[in-house]
Amino acid sequence: MVLSALFLAFLSTPIGGSSTRSTVQPFKVDLASGFPHLQTLVKNTNLPTEPLYSDAGPDFGLDLATLREWQTQWVNGFAQFTTTIGNQTVHFIHEKSQDKDAVPLLLLHGWPGTVAEFLPIIKPLTQSWTDPTTGKNISFNMVVPSIPGFLFSSSPPQNWTNVEIAGLFNTLMTDVLGYSKYALHGTDWGGAIGYNMYESFNTTVRAANFALLPFVPPSPQDIASDNITISALESVALQHTVNWRTEDQGYFQEQTFKPNDIGLALYDNPVGQLAWIGSGLVRWSDPRAGTAPSTLNSTTILNIVSLFYLSGTFQSGVWQYAHNPNLFRTEYTKPVTDAPMWFSLFEYDIFWPQEYVAKVGNLIAYREHDFGGHFAGVDNPPALIEDLREMGLYFAANE
Ligand SMILES: *[C@@H]1O[C@H](CO)[C@@H](O)[C@H](O)[C@H]1NC(C)=O
Ligand SMILES: *[C@@H]1O[C@H](CO)[C@@H](O)[C@H](O)[C@H]1NC(C)=O
Ligand SMILES: *[C@@H]1O[C@H](CO)[C@@H](O)[C@H](O)[C@H]1NC(C)=O
Ligand SMILES: *[C@@H]1O[C@H](CO)[C@@H](O)[C@H](O)[C@H]1NC(C)=O
Ligand SMILES: *[C@@H]1O[C@H](CO)[C@@H](O)[C@H](O)[C@H]1NC(C)=O
Ligand SMILES: *[C@@H]1O[C@H](CO)[C@@H](O)[C@H](O)[C@H]1NC(C)=O
Repeated sequence: MVLSALFLAFLSTPIGGSSTRSTVQPFKVDLASGFPHLQTLVKNTNLPTEPLYSDAGPDFGLDLATLREWQTQWVNGFAQFTTTIGNQTVHFIHEKSQDKDAVPLLLLHGWPGTVAEFLPIIKPLTQSWTDPTTGKNISFNMVVPSIPGFLFSSSPPQNWTNVEIAGLFNTLMTDVLGYSKYALHGTDWGGAIGYNMYESFNTTVRAANFALLPFVPPSPQDIASDNITISALESVALQHTVNWRTEDQGYFQEQTFKPNDIGLALYDNPVGQLAWIGSGLVRWSDPRAGTAPSTLNSTTILNIVSLFYLSGTFQSGVWQYAHNPNLFRTEYTKPVTDAPMWFSLFEYDIFWPQEYVAKVGNLIAYREHDFGGHFAGVDNPPALIEDLREMGLYFAANE
């Protein structure tokens, strides 16, 4: 098993993460049983206080400051917690900004992304950023939970759907973490869960950005008969959507109708999980994945597969499909909310034209990106950060 520095950082103990509510426990990912002394060793390793030759330069190897920075990152990782809501244990990353008026932002992942698909954007979004046109600053308090059944969140009862998960995560944000109003972003299952939150909690969900909506994506025939003209970028996304709906439903059917078969077959088979999950991560991302701005490479894939395998949640993860056999609604209707909505389209993701998106929410902006696919947090982190800051600035000005 390859364990990269990022993955090890993810495994390590959070330091300095704090929470105001007693029901939240700091959480340490305890997968590193093969490396029991790793965290202690990393933390207690002494480095020289000063470089030996301060102007030696890179020809002589790694500089002390870089190594010290990496050591700190490794020890700190991400501030992770668990809490108990009803009968569910919920695992989440909670990274707070230094700014007191930071906007609370919930990030909702899907399958097989996990919280790891957001790692490149979490810390940058906690940092204050100044909008060059208005001079306004924006930063976020980031909350990134694992969906029930994924990684360190407990499996839900068999009849739990996205509706129950929406309630669980709204409780997490409000009652547990004390954010009375917040913004959210969702992709894949996280888009469906986030949409349920957008329509069900109109006083607390006060801004939403989606990369997926729980509505049947229109076919080329639907789009033509609606007289919608599409751009070159949109036609790439549309073709990708057609391919996904025609040639790529095998995993979807399997996980919806026979989750125990694939779940048990690959339960203790890391290379099998690597094939099943790794294939999806590759075919749903941008074909240019791994080249800038994408950070999605084999290390990302091994990290995600390692997290599923080592947490023993491959089977409970695929059950998300079986719990929710009716993901896509056929009727496009607008919920009772005055909260604004944004949509982020990445070239190699599922396509909903702006005209369709506008039917299901108070669409403020429809942003298109000519790089990236289904896992934008790793496939095009700068573009997702840009879209979320746009939503955050609106939230900060209006709430
Ligand atoms: C929690 O689990 C117990 C035992 O299975 C069940 O009786 C109870 O209804 C559950 N509570 C909730 C809130 O789901
Ligand atoms: C934004 O942040 C910068 C850097 O911290 C600061 O100098 C500036 O005053 C801030 N602007 C506003 C409008 O708060
Ligand atoms: C799920 O099943 C339990 C036990 O049968 C039941 O109490 C509960 O109301 C069900 N929940 C939903 C949302 O159907
Ligand atoms: C599309 O355009 C055709 C020809 O102009 C028109 O007959 C039809 O009603 C239009 N359809 C819609 C949904 O606007
Ligand atoms: C993948 O990208 C990360 C940086 O995002 C890098 O640290 C890692 O070495 C890369 N992995 C491979 C196999 O190139
Ligand atoms: C929220 O929804 C209820 C109906 O469920 C509606 O009466 C109310 O006006 C809505 N509030 C907002 C702020 O959109």
